[in-house]
Amino acid sequence: MTINAAGATPAFATRQVHAGQSPDPATGARITPVYLSAGFVFDDLEAAKAAFEGRGGYSYTRVGNPTLTSLERKLADLEGGVDAVVVASGQAAVADALLAILRDGDHLVAARSIYSGSRSLFVEVFARFGIAVTFVDDSSGLDAWREAIRPETRALFAESISNPRNEVLDVRGVADIAHAHGLPLVVDSTLATPYLVRPLDHGADIVVHSTSKFITGNGSALGGVIVDGGRFPWADHADLHPQFSTPGAAGTTFVDRNGPAAYAQYTRDVIVQRLGPTLSPSNAFVVQQGLETLSLRMERHSQTALAVARWLETHPAVDRVDYSGLDSSPYHALADEYLPRGAGSVFAVRLHGGLEAARALHDNVAVISRMTHLGDVRSLVLHPATTTHGSLTADERDALGIDDGVLRLSIGLEDAADIIADLEQALEHVPAADSTGRAVFAGARA
Ligand SMILES: Cc1ncc(COP(=O)(O)O)c(C=O)c1O
Repeated sequence: MTINAAGATPAFATRQVHAGQSPDPATGARITPVYLSAGFVFDDLEAAKAAFEGRGGYSYTRVGNPTLTSLERKLADLEGGVDAVVVASGQAAVADALLAILRDGDHLVAARSIYSGSRSLFVEVFARFGIAVTFVDDSSGLDAWREAIRPETRALFAESISNPRNEVLDVRGVADIAHAHGLPLVVDSTLATPYLVRPLDHGADIVVHSTSKFITGNGSALGGVIVDGGRFPWADHADLHPQFSTPGAAGTTFVDRNGPAAYAQYTRDVIVQRLGPTLSPSNAFVVQQGLETLSLRMERHSQTALAVARWLETHPAVDRVDYSGLDSSPYHALADEYLPRGAGSVFAVRLHGGLEAARALHDNVAVISRMTHLGDVRSLVLHPATTTHGSLTADERDALGIDDGVLRLSIGLEDAADIIADLEQALEHVPAADSTGRAVFAGARA
């Protein structure tokens, strides 16, 4: 975004409102309108040719649309990237970001603790197309990342804050390992948003989001984005990543034509345009509306989540709270380093009493909604072992620390005292302790 009168780069709160948006050239509308049009009329044959060659003008909404462009510019600015590509969902963002890098015979190294849909994408879909994956158990263990890299590895993937266990990624540490092997680090930063951390500032190369979550913030529209940091030297590693440096019909490469935005343009032109997960301009408008208040919401989400996590940690029915904002978290030092503005609002809580305790809390909340969603103004609860992680084996769930007693909470923007009161009354329904210690909370606390 252009500098302000004082010569300084405007702060995040200013950029989230103004970046990427100027009054509509046709009408003066202050907010970029919803351009609901499948296609755009060409003035003449030369204009059609220019649009098809990417030299300006719009042609067809799957290729580009002014409402989408406005959102892409704002998201690229907020993440500190050179370009962004919006798509129809976070799932499409993860898939397309990686498909722009990987092909059959390639290998991906990913953190084990990631969104279950990303995991399924890798083990169910990528595997069918000859792309192998190795999961790293503890994403903060840098040696494990190093050891998982093979000659066929082409990318590293992790979440900046993991879903659901709130682990914090050592972005700089993992990025340095990736770069030493000529590989890009792709970070899903859905749970953090650019307000809490900008992975590109710490060495990551590509950032993806499900904008369906905090970026929209109100749970009303699906969307996703892929942001290109513009610093990965694709041409220096043409042996590993030839697609960006191979001349096309015109004799030029994506790097020649797009410089630092070569990856974003390749993703847009070759992957998204061909696979077709176009974001609806209506949804782009809704995402943009949410994005304008992101900093205010993330600040409050994080404050309230910390208060709720601290309260839960002292409750006798609770065995463990996985929230990096807590001193007890093994990720607290990384949170201090990477998340000075707050640790976000999604975390896991493990109850002593296993499934029956989790069921009692889950089924008795009244303010909190039972939903498979997160990053909403509403507080949400989910039982991963029977839902998002239900298709895993018990051993696989154990490796992720997701057993029957674990619930995922996404703390919303309600008053903290009301959320705590709701949890307190729901925890009163947890079955009383037995002598084996399996269900150890006596509902009526002393
Ligand atoms: C971290 C993360 N990435 C990606 C996704 C997928 O996003 P969407 O639901 O928009 O497809 C989710 C959804 O929960 C998520 O939590």
